[in-house]
Amino acid sequence: MHTRLRRLVTEAFTPRTVEGLRDATVERARALLEPGREVGSIDLVGSYGQQFSLGIICDLIGVPASDRDTILSWSDETVRMYEPHPPETQQAASNAAAGSFRRYLLDLVALRRARPASDLLSALLDATVEGERLSDEQIVSTAMVLLMAGHEAAVNATANGVALLAAHPGEWQRIRSGAVSPRAAIEEVLRFDPPLQWFERWVLDDGFAVDGLGIPRGSRVALVLAAANRDPRRHPDPDRFDVARPDTAHLSLGGGIHFCIGAPLARLELETTLTELARTEPELAVIPPAIRRPTFQFRGYDRLEIALSKEG
Ligand code: HEM
Repeated sequence: MHTRLRRLVTEAFTPRTVEGLRDATVERARALLEPGREVGSIDLVGSYGQQFSLGIICDLIGVPASDRDTILSWSDETVRMYEPHPPETQQAASNAAAGSFRRYLLDLVALRRARPASDLLSALLDATVEGERLSDEQIVSTAMVLLMAGHEAAVNATANGVALLAAHPGEWQRIRSGAVSPRAAIEEVLRFDPPLQWFERWVLDDGFAVDGLGIPRGSRVALVLAAANRDPRRHPDPDRFDVARPDTAHLSLGGGIHFCIGAPLARLELETTLTELARTEPELAVIPPAIRRPTFQFRGYDRLEIALSKEG
């Protein structure tokens, strides 16, 4: 079922479909940066990234703008469950948030069934997989994954990238001067400081081995994407941040049957933000304190304030 559902959803996020969102995405970025340009600085997490990425995915799915903040708090609470060994109180809070999130989406599905709109939720209601319609629970879980995956990582990737470029002014100048395109630079940003550090898998077969090391059936394995991205056998001088690195093939968007469905959208978002900043910021300056998020799997910032020029 995963593969069939995945195929259905992937259609909404192909590079070509996503390219059609470019103009609206640039407009959204400019509008969100504008208040920061007035006052000379912006918190790239709370005032920009969250509004930007969550706004895009909510509009695509059909979540009303007035509900975005609620979605943000449910999503933040739910994903804390993915941290290693969450305490019981966190597990309970995450479960409660996921429950509210699910009930909200069930209501939204009922609304769209009564009055379809031109959004992904209505399209999922209309879709058939092998001649059968999706159940409400399948639609809700798909929408929930998209809403969470569709912004948590993108917000963190944006802040990680801007902080990195602020800390490496020479690399920023290569982007500013046009020597390296934002499109190319984001791949090195994703390699160097991935917003999702690891994922877990379970070994389902006997006789499974990695590099000659047998791993028994039933084992839980952590795939540390961030470490793989710094493997010197794959990336020469891996701890050097080089936006013009010729081979940036990283694992930050996963791989195999769970490879990130939203990769084209994630790339468009990151490219847009860097392009907009490169247009106006001769230097990228972080205004301290930059506050790192104290989480392990999701690596990002709680707050990252940067100086912003007036001319937009
Ligand atoms: C920079 C931003 C992003 C990063 C770094 C990222 C990273 C990832 C990674 C590593 C996975 C694989 C998880 C696994 O192996 O279990 C994944 C899966 C996924 N991503 Fe993203 N993602 C980003 C943005 C997005 C966006 C914008 C969307 C919106 C559509 C999205 C939707 C998904 C979905 C639905 C999956 C699950 C795919 C499956 O299980 O088959 N992601 N993402």
